[in-house]
Amino acid sequence: MTVRDPDELTIPPDGRPAAEQPKWRRDFPVDVPQDQYVARREFTKFLVLTSFAFVAGQAWILAKSWLARRPAPPELALGRIDELPVGGFRQFDYPGPGQPKLLVRVGEREVVAFDQRCTHLSCPVLPQFDRGRFHCPCHNGNFDLATGRPLSGPPRRPLPRVDLEVRDGVVWAVGVTERMS
Ligand code: FES
Repeated sequence: MTVRDPDELTIPPDGRPAAEQPKWRRDFPVDVPQDQYVARREFTKFLVLTSFAFVAGQAWILAKSWLARRPAPPELALGRIDELPVGGFRQFDYPGPGQPKLLVRVGEREVVAFDQRCTHLSCPVLPQFDRGRFHCPCHNGNFDLATGRPLSGPPRRPLPRVDLEVRDGVVWAVGVTERMS
């Protein structure tokens, strides 16, 4: 008598012989042990494919952010600090045309600069030095004059800050910092 590999045998759940099984089971016999092997193989395949998709997704995000890296903006001389009175301000475009920024002299040796576009719906903000804030007249939004952080009204994000350096009394814009909070 030939001993068959038990994995090759069809094992109906009720244990009755094949001839007594319902027609649908005879038409589609399933070797339970082999079915488990297949299921395990399928599961492994699923894990490998899922891991591959995850790695590919991460690689895509990395590649996209690498490609989207913008070159550092050029430096821009904004004039001598003492050309502005304390509390005075001037508007300039940086890093390119159509990107309005505000430079404000907040102390003898201190200047700050922020994007002039409100982070709510992009209305232009104006400095109110005596109240220590930038005011947006569109929906009564306010930002801190020193930090650009929202104080009141609809805006939730701070104004993008222009990085400044003062060299030999001249104020230079050297970059822009976007902030989410
Ligand atoms: S646009 Fe500035 S508060 Fe709405």
